[in-house]
Amino acid sequence: MTESRSLFGRAGFIAAAVGSAIGLGNIWKFPYITYANEGGSFVLVYLAAVVMVGAPLLLAEFLLGRHTGRNPFGAFVAITKDRPGGRLWSAFGFLPVITISLVGGYYYLVAGWTLYYCIRCVGWALSGFDLTPTEVSASFNTFLANGPLQIGVHLSFTVITGAIVLLGVKSGIERVTKIVMPLLGGLLLLLAIAAIPTPGFSEALRFLFHIGPLSADALLEAVGHSFFTLGVGMGILITYSSYMSKKQSIVRSGLLVCVLDTLVGLVACIVMFSIIFGVPEAERATAFSKSATIMFTTLPHMLFAFPLGQLLAPLFYFLVAFAALTSTISGLEMLVSVASDELGWSRTRAVLVISLVFVAIAIPTALSVGAHEGLSNWQPFGELSRGVFDTFDYTVSNWLLPITGLGLSLVLGWVVLQPKLREEFEIGHGQFKTFPIWQFLIRVVSPIAILWILWEVIGGRSFA
Ligand code: PFF
Repeated sequence: MTESRSLFGRAGFIAAAVGSAIGLGNIWKFPYITYANEGGSFVLVYLAAVVMVGAPLLLAEFLLGRHTGRNPFGAFVAITKDRPGGRLWSAFGFLPVITISLVGGYYYLVAGWTLYYCIRCVGWALSGFDLTPTEVSASFNTFLANGPLQIGVHLSFTVITGAIVLLGVKSGIERVTKIVMPLLGGLLLLLAIAAIPTPGFSEALRFLFHIGPLSADALLEAVGHSFFTLGVGMGILITYSSYMSKKQSIVRSGLLVCVLDTLVGLVACIVMFSIIFGVPEAERATAFSKSATIMFTTLPHMLFAFPLGQLLAPLFYFLVAFAALTSTISGLEMLVSVASDELGWSRTRAVLVISLVFVAIAIPTALSVGAHEGLSNWQPFGELSRGVFDTFDYTVSNWLLPITGLGLSLVLGWVVLQPKLREEFEIGHGQFKTFPIWQFLIRVVSPIAILWILWEVIGGRSFA
């Protein structure tokens, strides 16, 4: 199996893994959930979750993929086949298929928004941008309420992602990723530096690091987001690392992905919060009743206010769309690998069928951001989510990813023979002296933390 897989070069693997990790989760989602959960404690729990749960599980996925050389489902089957409870554990390898199918519904949609805003900013740049912030917000709401347009932007991203995976031009994308990702990082940094003299900056930092009360749901959301942003529990990292060369260090590559991903999220928060806190307090509640949309309502205005804003604004949305694309490619690639390895489907058939499933799931999602009253207000989890879009996101981040993470930690921590794991870690790395720390985190800390949080959520607890 392993021999038939083409291998990534070292830099190619890192580019693909970083490309998969950095995306809308960092730039769009992390700032808005941090704002909704009142910053401070939420950010600290998130950082702790990255270090104690997310990073060890990311290494576990790298290890599982490279060791078995299989897709996530096949990897769970292969690694547990001679162990007690073999067949049962493979259910955890199937969960990512459901996860990515739901993600395909809403992530592609937001990715489509960024693409649309890139084109829109080109239009604004050519015609001379003269809209007030209220007009920019109003135009975004009109855009959300336009059902056919929402379906159209989703479809455009589905087609672009499908075409790239189908044509196998991924290596080209990896080459471009190495240029685009540093550009995006640089642009975000530039925006953060430009935010320093603005009135909202110091309040943004205070908001980001103060300590306050946190509900069990917020705790779960912080852990879930550490998974979402790193791509843990989505099976993607297992798939990508099944192509990883044995010369590469799992530990060094994994930690690099975690550090870069976390930095991008934090810098994006500083930029967005400097904008929010620059708005007079009395107007804040109305301006940001939906913090999820800041990137499309207030940010365009800020970008156009910059010197060279006419260039900067379209460039920013282009870079974010590209970052989203490297994530959607990884998700589709994972599903294609399951379909071709397990069902024997050709690449073409797999891409077409999966893309059609995405579109079917996308229709109710696309209509649930304003176009259709019932779909936009659907609340199967009560106050915790509103509308199909939000409900899918909630189910993925707060339930499916932590549960898959739990499965990973149980299988790699307890079911699989440990010396085998240590050996795989040391290939391409040399002696892995901190193996016992990783082992403790994966065997004890991750499962207890995840189980405890799920239990508290079910009990509806809050932490003051
Ligand atoms: N890690 C990605 C992000 O933070 O934006 C999330 C992601 C979504 C990755 C969908 C892959 C994917 F297919």
